[in-house]
Amino acid sequence: MELAEDRIQKREDRCQMAEDRAQRTDNQIIEANMSLRGSETTEAIPPAQKLFGVSWGISPQSPQPTFSRGRNERGGQKDASNMERVNINLGVRGYPVLIGEKLLSKTGALLNDYEISKKVAVISNPTVWKFYGKQVIKSLKDAGFSPVKIIIPDGERYKNLKTVEKIYTGMLKAGIDRKGCVIALGGGVVGDIAGFVSATYMRGVKYVQIPTTLLAQVDASIGGKTGVDHKLGKNLIGAFYQPLFVLSDISTLKTLPEREFRAGLAEIIKYGIIRDAELFDFLEKNASRILIRDREALEFIIRRSCEIKARIVEQDEREETGLRSILNFGHTIGHAIEAATKYRKYLHGEAVAMGMVAEAELSGVLGYASGEEIEKVRRIVGGYFERSLEDELLKKKLLTYIKLDKKKAGELIKIPLILSIGNVDVKKIDLKKLLFVIRRKR
Ligand SMILES: NC(=O)c1ccc[n+]([C@@H]2O[C@H](COP(=O)([O-])OP(=O)(O)OC[C@H]3O[C@@H](n4cnc5c(N)ncnc54)[C@H](O)[C@@H]3O)[C@@H](O)[C@H]2O)c1
Repeated sequence: MELAEDRIQKREDRCQMAEDRAQRTDNQIIEANMSLRGSETTEAIPPAQKLFGVSWGISPQSPQPTFSRGRNERGGQKDASNMERVNINLGVRGYPVLIGEKLLSKTGALLNDYEISKKVAVISNPTVWKFYGKQVIKSLKDAGFSPVKIIIPDGERYKNLKTVEKIYTGMLKAGIDRKGCVIALGGGVVGDIAGFVSATYMRGVKYVQIPTTLLAQVDASIGGKTGVDHKLGKNLIGAFYQPLFVLSDISTLKTLPEREFRAGLAEIIKYGIIRDAELFDFLEKNASRILIRDREALEFIIRRSCEIKARIVEQDEREETGLRSILNFGHTIGHAIEAATKYRKYLHGEAVAMGMVAEAELSGVLGYASGEEIEKVRRIVGGYFERSLEDELLKKKLLTYIKLDKKKAGELIKIPLILSIGNVDVKKIDLKKLLFVIRRKR
């Protein structure tokens, strides 16, 4: 195994060196008000109906959702400005997640409630900036701030220390001091990098998350995990660092490419599976409304997801008690799929979707969940995604990557398994059983 791992590592190193070469030529940062390069777009996929060998018709006649308005069941509340508010209760590090439409124009006014200097840095990428940069800058200027724009290239391959260093330079040249503030405007990549910059610039400055992808709104922007990738692995350099607030403007999702939007839905399905049978049910019955990005439906699923993540983070802020690891449902196999395909073939959410089905099947094979529950997972994932784990070559590679997993101890791996929809438990299981589930014919 050592040899196989070495070979993989060498291949990955070669691949990384090639990427580094590419990066040296085009990885530049626009410092203080200069634009850098065009956006990388994502190919849209047609609506998915047939997946994992299951047909799951998304019917326009699906039952209408039942929304809980005003104060909701889990501590979120709607305020006078028609924003949903989910509090992350972490004592002095606590903060609100504000969810609603057309919130970008409130950025400056909201920031005025905090003790920060007037010079702030807005970190974004060209894709997001093109759509939303002006609105945020105007709002900041209207509220008396002097924003400095820092644009980083779009893409996970720029989530590294080189980009961080260039941001530091931009901020230093612009004169951002210790009382300054960083505003992260973008998806999870921008949020993770900007958060890490904030945690470390002058030993820490305040920051705000303005997530513009569905994944970032329900996951990456909440919980204070910040960081960058290292050539030896993803997210290996980082810090826990909580923002002042998270501003989730649902209107920004209108411009999100279809594939990215669906990838974000995978994390929402995950929340339903691990903690919330009602959310799961809603996702199942309202797929057509969700897929056309109906405002009320989105507000509901985003708020519920934020509440679930909030309650988990509150109990295990720094991933110490093990509770936070239930958020990894679908991710052990998902990460292995991403690594085995060099992070190029599938988006993270697509890989997690496949991982959730495989890990649900594992829960069934090991006798933790009933066949009926497993079928529900297959059906819901099948309703939103059309990728499947049928690729035999991929299946063969997966175990090698699973063996590199941080959660592995000897031949055992810790993995959240389904007991029933809305209820998972972290179990230690034998890698051979995982292999059996991955390899079996569906
Ligand atoms: N910190 C955490 O807890 C946490 C949790 C999950 C994921 N992550 C990280 O998040 C990253 C993935 O985030 P992501 O899925 O948001 O990817 P991303 O940030 O790369 O965004 C995906 C694409 O969508 C574009 N985009 C963003 N918002 C848009 C909009 N409103 N309209 C049009 N295009 C838009 C981006 O420019 C990019 O091309 C990974 O690096 C992952 O490690 C972090």
